[in-house]
Amino acid sequence: MQIVVIHTSPNDEGLTASLANAAVAGATAAGAQVELVKLTALEMARCRQCDDGWYTCRDEGRCVIEDDFGALRGKVSEADAWVLVTPVYFGEPSESAKAFMDRLRRCNVGAKGEGLAEKPVLGVAAAGGSGGGTATCLLALDRFFGHISAEVADLITVTRRSAEYKREAVRAAAQAMVEAIGE
Ligand SMILES: Cc1cc2nc3c(=O)[nH]c(=O)nc-3n(C[C@H](O)[C@H](O)[C@H](O)COP(=O)(O)O)c2cc1C
Repeated sequence: MQIVVIHTSPNDEGLTASLANAAVAGATAAGAQVELVKLTALEMARCRQCDDGWYTCRDEGRCVIEDDFGALRGKVSEADAWVLVTPVYFGEPSESAKAFMDRLRRCNVGAKGEGLAEKPVLGVAAAGGSGGGTATCLLALDRFFGHISAEVADLITVTRRSAEYKREAVRAAAQAMVEAIGE
């Protein structure tokens, strides 16, 4: 069982990182091989809105930009399930998360998209500030997962106040997601 956990904060010691680590721990406890990917360490350009707004993403299910997108998309496509953990920035997912999500949904929204439909995914929105905008960030994840027809295992919000018990919820959710695949 192969699981990819995508961590989309630049901070390795913060709330988002601790939740990504909790997801790794849960999936590992369920017997999965887990790869933790730090998205901000990758080259991930924004979508160029090629041509009239659609290009090879719609026609061929691929993006023409040559950066780390293709390799990460391949990893997620080959995995049995995946986890996306984002900090809440301005009530939205982080910029690196959005760049990846924008390009992935374009490539995977149609019938030619490869390997993500029905794949279990766990989404986590971590608000380390006031907690404002947590719900809208989670809504963005929900809409994105809908666009790529993912099987949503759970969507979890975390704030500074809830971090202690929600960290355990993230760990348990990742474990349960992997165990459900094995059933
Ligand atoms: C540009 C920016 C915007 C932010 N916007 C919000 C916000 O809308 N709501 C909130 O609760 N926290 C906000 N925060 C705080 C982050 O959610 C918090 O830093 C987050 O948990 C990431 O921290 P981490 O890197 O330690 O995981 C923002 C932080 C940054 C850098």
